Amino acid sequence: MRIVVLNGPNLNFLGIREVGVYGTSGYEELVSSIKKKAEKMDIQVDVYQRNSEGELIDLIQQAHYDKADGIIINPGAYTHYSYALHDALASVSMTKIEVHLSNIHKREAFRHVSVTASACDGQIAGLGFLSYQLAMEAIMDKCSGQADS
Ligand code: DQA
Repeated sequence: MRIVVLNGPNLNFLGIREVGVYGTSGYEELVSSIKKKAEKMDIQVDVYQRNSEGELIDLIQQAHYDKADGIIINPGAYTHYSYALHDALASVSMTKIEVHLSNIHKREAFRHVSVTASACDGQIAGLGFLSYQLAMEAIMDKCSGQADS
């Protein structure tokens, strides 16, 4: 099983940006925690971070060509206004889970809306690094369900 993890703008600044919201752990720690969990679950994982919308779209399309089983995406602020990312996610048929480190529903009003979540199978928000780990479990579960049916 292969999962592609996509992190959007400013997530490379974890540990530097708004530590009261996102904590003091850096981006590399997030990547290690994802890889550690993937190894335990025997999942092949590719983790990317891009600050630009177009590059995230290219990676979504690449995941399709590469026949990835799932995408975990934290679109960062693009969550709240990128119809282009919505359309890219809607174009591909693998399992897609949107994740957020913070609880976007408990923050400023502009963060309460996700225009990308409706193109995904589910959304997990507010659990820090655990959001990504639970998303891996969700994709694994959905894929094993497919194998059973
Ligand atoms: C975020 C929440 C977004 O509102 C914000 O713009 C981010 C990070 C999160 O993981 O909590 O960049 O996606």
